[in-house]
Amino acid sequence: MGNNILQVIYLLASVSFIAGLKFLGNPATARKGNIYAAIGMTIAIFGTIFLYKGPDGQSLKNLPFIFGGLLVGTFIGWVAAKRVQMTAMPEMVSLFNGMGGACAMLISIIEFQHITTDINLFLAANSGGEKTGLLLTIITGLIIGSVSFSGSMIAWGKLSGKVKDRSFPLQQYLSIGLLLVIIFFAYNVVAMRSEEFQTEFYLLLALALIYGVFFVMPIGGADMPVVISLLNSFTGVAAACGGFLYDNKVMLIGGILVGSAGTLLTIVMCNAMNRSLLNVLIGNFGGSNTAAAGNSSSVQGTIKEVSKSDAAILMKYAKKVVIVPGYGLAVAQAQHVVHELETLLEAEGVEVKYAIHPVAGRMPGHMNVLLAESNVSYDKLVEMEEINPEFATTDVVLVVGANDVVNPAAKTDPASPIYGMPILEVENAANVIVNKRSMKAGYAGIENELFYRPKTSMLFGDAKKALTELVSEIKSLG
Ligand code: TAP
Repeated sequence: MGNNILQVIYLLASVSFIAGLKFLGNPATARKGNIYAAIGMTIAIFGTIFLYKGPDGQSLKNLPFIFGGLLVGTFIGWVAAKRVQMTAMPEMVSLFNGMGGACAMLISIIEFQHITTDINLFLAANSGGEKTGLLLTIITGLIIGSVSFSGSMIAWGKLSGKVKDRSFPLQQYLSIGLLLVIIFFAYNVVAMRSEEFQTEFYLLLALALIYGVFFVMPIGGADMPVVISLLNSFTGVAAACGGFLYDNKVMLIGGILVGSAGTLLTIVMCNAMNRSLLNVLIGNFGGSNTAAAGNSSSVQGTIKEVSKSDAAILMKYAKKVVIVPGYGLAVAQAQHVVHELETLLEAEGVEVKYAIHPVAGRMPGHMNVLLAESNVSYDKLVEMEEINPEFATTDVVLVVGANDVVNPAAKTDPASPIYGMPILEVENAANVIVNKRSMKAGYAGIENELFYRPKTSMLFGDAKKALTELVSEIKSLG
């Protein structure tokens, strides 16, 4: 009876995961989606704790350990999520993803110990096919979970500036060699070819952890969101292995959803940057070297500065203003003041919209989340495909801390590393005001010809400070 109720709970939890994912697809319903999925996970966890009966009819033991772990994990997760800055969100996602990988790794270690404690009993109780299937699942979970764990820790270290981008000669060959050795040992353990399979198992664990480090180490620090999304899909697959192992449907479905969502997100991000995954993994584009070097020689001309009072007049008397938020807006925490600017202009009868590029900022949906935090209405956030035709009828575009996503080189310069990346075509507007602190390059490390065009004026300064002053200027115009 208990197990039947548990199956119904698992079904409900699985439906809530799918509904949650669906709602997460839109900023207006994302919060609801998160809550749905969290409720699903909660009932799955408590259902398992209280209703699960093993093949021997026994309930779960070690309840104090289970609840102790739940309490500690919930407390740390809650505090970390409350405290994290929006700009540090990719780091936190990476850290939490690493924990998922570590869980899958530990499950494999424990279950391998279980079945090999009395190897004769195990061999007697399982036919060749069952034995191979079980070991294959454990080893797959071990390798993918370990790579995801150590890789995510390196990604976290890079994003928080604790680990530097590093690659050494022949690194790619060494990684491929390591992978081949891992496959060799994995085959040995699954086929139980040697008496030493216990030693080989732990060797495999160590090699998979080292491979995770090798995998992420040479990738450019700014490419980390793509890698984190890929590692996220690895964790999903590793969790799905746990689902197979325990014949637990909700774990299997949850793992598959995370695995496929992570894979899709990786593909979407690569497409939006017009880069192949291989290019991200071996290209080192967006690494600190490229970003620092830039290509200052390729763009020439003079730039024009605009004063805050002139910018204020231009915007106050415009019919339509489009704001382009970018990474700099997030760094400066200027989301509240940009909303204040929008409200002020609307009160003056100006139509205001935000142009959202799919990879503006440093993680998927970065700008949507940031602007939602300051209560910008969702219907004002317009996706790239929809807003691009509107620039021709826009009086003023205000670019705030964005660079690559408005760089015309993506359309005009085949030699540019971002050539082919779809961009916000702000150059079609009557006036473009660009707010940033200097002439420094953005993520891709390249110059932006837009800043030198006749219609463009630069409003230098930190986004929060500059916009606060702009708001005061508009107010002072009466
Ligand atoms: P970027 O091209 O990185 O440009 C941001 C600009 O903000 C910089 O040029 C910087 O110039 C300025 N800035 C920094 N701090 C500022 C501050 N306090 N006040 C004002 N300006 C400030 O950003 P973007 O246009 O949003 O493009 C995003 C890039 O990230 C794309 O190349 C994209 O491919 C990449 N990327 C995105 C994602 C996702 S999913 N979003 C994932 C991986 C990579 P100054 O230093 O002169 O101020």
